[in-house]
Amino acid sequence: MSHDAIAFSLEEPSTIAIGSSRFVRACLQQPVDRTPVWFLRQAGRYMPEYMAVRKHHSLLDICRTPEIASEVTITAAERLGVDAAIIFADLLLPFTPMGLDFEFVAGEGPVVHTPVRSLEHVQALRTDRAEDLNYVAKSIEKVAAHFVGPRADGDTLGIIGFCGAPFTLASYMIEGGSSRNYIETKKLMYSDGVAWPLLMDKLVSVLVAFAQQQVEGGADVIQIFDSWAGALSVADYRQYCLSWTKELVERVKAMGVPVIYFGVDTASLLGTMRETGADVIGLDWRVPLDVGWKAVGEGCGVQGNLDPITLFAPEGVLERRVKEVLDAAAGRAGHIFNLGHGIVPGTPVENVIRVVEWVKEHGRQ
Ligand code: CP3
Repeated sequence: MSHDAIAFSLEEPSTIAIGSSRFVRACLQQPVDRTPVWFLRQAGRYMPEYMAVRKHHSLLDICRTPEIASEVTITAAERLGVDAAIIFADLLLPFTPMGLDFEFVAGEGPVVHTPVRSLEHVQALRTDRAEDLNYVAKSIEKVAAHFVGPRADGDTLGIIGFCGAPFTLASYMIEGGSSRNYIETKKLMYSDGVAWPLLMDKLVSVLVAFAQQQVEGGADVIQIFDSWAGALSVADYRQYCLSWTKELVERVKAMGVPVIYFGVDTASLLGTMRETGADVIGLDWRVPLDVGWKAVGEGCGVQGNLDPITLFAPEGVLERRVKEVLDAAAGRAGHIFNLGHGIVPGTPVENVIRVVEWVKEHGRQ
């Protein structure tokens, strides 16, 4: 479906679901009444309501139980008053049906016990069990049922499904967890002209199926997290990452939903990331929003990009920073207000809510 077709059919909203909320319209660079706002990691450890649920359930139990995952998603979106809800899930969930065991270790983050380091191991990864991830689609169905119809301001809440990008997921598989220098990932990338492309192909095939389930479950938009793409030079990104990411973006867009493509530390990569064909590029906070948008180029939206740590600043500073982001966007269609990365534990919830209120007040487009 072309964007023109969507713009035209907005005059008859009953005939088309897409483009029906200010969040989705902004993703498509269509005019909106005000800048939409949501936050990366809006349901997380900074929020007492989440911690209360977390006390009784592990992270993976929450992700895999649609009743709980949907409740956590809904509670965060309603508490904050944001324009979109991101489904509560995790980037690493597809590892399980691919045959790779992992766990979240307190204070350490994700741990893959047998990291993928050889062609044999890549060959052994399975791509035929993506159906096992259907619990995420079930969570989305529940969130969509809850948010069906307009809210008090007449706008429908957007529902975001998500998955990792092939490079970022490959880095977790190969490093066995989070990494500083990506030595093992780059070793495999540079030295094995068979294992690397095979791994990326396998990831794309599982991620396409996973995204399809989420769209069928009711996701309005899919965000692809390439959180660690910033570890790559432009040349390496182009050689080892771009074609697979582009394929994933194209195949998700063909499902009829806009795609947001996000990474951290990506100032030098933005123009190349745009080549994936994503509708919106997520900017981290290091690049001024107007500079980042210029690098992304015309005809593409941007999402971001308040430094998440400004949420710890005095009220006056925080308000100024919010206005600076909005000023840099200058009311252009296609800006979605967000942080430059996720909300961190310890962030005062009331400051997050203040940001939402300031965006609603000042973020006219
Ligand atoms: O509202 C939301 O955004 C929550 C849903 C969500 C989670 N993970 C739940 C989660 C989302 C969108 C993610 C994505 C995710 N997971 C990313 C990409 C986002 C980014 O930060 O760039 C990444 C890299 C992961 C992998 C992951 N999951 C890591 C590295 C960690 C440990 C880091 C930490 O903060 O401890 C997780 C754990 C995790 N996933 C938590 C949450 C709420 C916190 C841990 C917990 O509740 O025990």
